[in-house]
Amino acid sequence: MIPGPTPVPEKVLQALSKHPIGHRTKEFQELVESTTTNLQWLHQTQNDVLTITGSGTAAMEAGIINTLSKGDKVICGENGKFGERWVKVAKEFGLEVIKIDSEWGTPLNPEEFKRVLEKDKQKEIKAVILTHSETSTGVINDLETISKYIKEHDTALSIVDCVTSLGACNVPVDEWQLDIVASGSQKGYMIPPGLSFVAMSAKAWEAAKKSNLPKFYLNLNSYRKSLSSKSNPYTPAVNLVFALDESLKMMREEGLNNIFDRHNKHKLAMSNAIKALNLKLFADEKYISPSITAISTGEMDAEEFRKTIKNKFNILLAGGQDHLKGKIFRVGHLGYINDRDIITVISAISNTLLDLGKITVQQAGEALVVASKYLKEN
Ligand SMILES: Cc1ncc(COP(=O)(O)O)c(C=O)c1O
Repeated sequence: MIPGPTPVPEKVLQALSKHPIGHRTKEFQELVESTTTNLQWLHQTQNDVLTITGSGTAAMEAGIINTLSKGDKVICGENGKFGERWVKVAKEFGLEVIKIDSEWGTPLNPEEFKRVLEKDKQKEIKAVILTHSETSTGVINDLETISKYIKEHDTALSIVDCVTSLGACNVPVDEWQLDIVASGSQKGYMIPPGLSFVAMSAKAWEAAKKSNLPKFYLNLNSYRKSLSSKSNPYTPAVNLVFALDESLKMMREEGLNNIFDRHNKHKLAMSNAIKALNLKLFADEKYISPSITAISTGEMDAEEFRKTIKNKFNILLAGGQDHLKGKIFRVGHLGYINDRDIITVISAISNTLLDLGKITVQQAGEALVVASKYLKEN
């Protein structure tokens, strides 16, 4: 129950275990065709969606180095570890970063983006870069509103990390006119780590013509060119593509709205059970990501708590990062997660709190009653 790598369905595991095939064969071309169509469906876009062999960070870096140039001014939203990563990548490539931040555990304020963008009369800001679902704190940022402000600016590109939102909640790329969307396989996609995805709008491709940042393996033009002949520029992780094909088919069978509803109900069951257990939700309830619930442990050492649950129940929870280490733990509930997983993790948390004398038997029971109610009603 960590926010990635997430559990992998049996069918996908079986697809992984097939013998690899040549990546310049007709069979592989068919896979490229079907996965690309289904990736566009998942992203709700007509834009190109490119598959890279590399982790989510490769897709993030690709977004920057393919569309921007040294010295470009960009806004980076930072309210957690992954927003911080955007700032690091941008600075590493010599971009001038205007940081819009908010305390970890709170969402970015869209109005701040509006204010900075409106002030930019000379249109010097080339991109607005941010994280949709901030995995380190379990906060979802209001991407819809921020992207509206980016469109009002007109020239700036949006570059968005949707690594833990895509496949968990609505990310309508075309409707929100997102220019560059990065995601990774070990999250909502329900396959192991190793693939990442970049959706590129027409405006992003226009910007790519002028970009002067160094790139070779991650030059998205090569991926686009290869895609037109249903191929890859370099040897892809063929077996992960088998797995991707299977998982996307499973997602299509379930349907986008059902996937989003499932994640939403699990989020509600988790957060309400946590409250029944007298634990504190780290993020404001309105901004909890559908993929991750972060929980403050107060006086109790969150690392010890995690360790106890791992030893006793063999359930892995995620810890806090940086200054949050020992202070929070995070429950990942994205991808191939069902009601049983949610009930099980809540039971494990309740049972451990009971052992520690932190709650009564009644409270432990109440948490399950509350969770069951949300699972049943939604
Ligand atoms: C929001 C977010 N962005 C980026 C990443 C980085 O992905 P990767 O570790 O696959 O490079 C992660 C991974 O946890 C993430 O959760």
